[in-house]
Amino acid sequence: MTLRELASLGEVSAEIAHELRNALLVISASAYLAARDPAASAPHLAKIERNTRAAQSIVDGMLALVRGDALVTEELPLRAVLADARAGLGDGAAIFEDHVDDCIIHAHAALLPRVFRCLYENASQASAPATPRIITTATREGARTVIEVSDDGPGVPEAIAGSVFEPLVSAREGGTGLGLSLCRRIVAAHHGVLSLEPAAQGARFRVVI
Ligand SMILES: Nc1ncnc2c1ncn2[C@@H]1O[C@H](COP(=O)(O)OP(=O)(O)O)[C@@H](O)[C@H]1O
Ligand SMILES: [Mg+2]
Repeated sequence: MTLRELASLGEVSAEIAHELRNALLVISASAYLAARDPAASAPHLAKIERNTRAAQSIVDGMLALVRGDALVTEELPLRAVLADARAGLGDGAAIFEDHVDDCIIHAHAALLPRVFRCLYENASQASAPATPRIITTATREGARTVIEVSDDGPGVPEAIAGSVFEPLVSAREGGTGLGLSLCRRIVAAHHGVLSLEPAAQGARFRVVI
């Protein structure tokens, strides 16, 4: 196994571990609450069910990605995918502005939101300590949907602009350089393309799916 393959496997494992930890926290808290008051356990049990399914979905999706299996996709409102991506970000990570057509896309429910979360996180981290304005646009072009995420931060450093999707390429202190390479794999598994586009200011990433 090459260092790159090992690195991307590491990224996949870290992503799964992170998701599982969050799901398990919710599940154990809900189980505790359900046990304390069995008569009012229904909402807690529903939460356990939801989080169990979400955890299964991320594990299945990541394993399919590693094995190169076809992804199980469903029809999802793009706006829900973007909301999911933002749910994992800290409060005040960014100011979001959307110009998003109300469209349905065929995507893996757990994997595709990770792509936008990664783009949003990168924009926040690159802009820190300032709060970036992140503009998301989406337009339908025939059977494809073109989604762009741009920010008003410093932009991708010139030196790595050509290799930013390669694993282990990072210009961030404490960065692993694995986020965008995983994003590109996820988008490719959707038969889509992820690219960095020229921008007058900040960074602009495009997902065609
Ligand atoms: N929105 C952005 N603005 C400026 N630089 C960015 C942006 N997104 C990515 N980058 C650059 O690309 C590098 C690689 O990103 P990524 O693959 O997510 O790895 P990491 O975040 O671990 O460094 C980052 O270290 C950063 O230098
Ligand atoms: Mg990153």
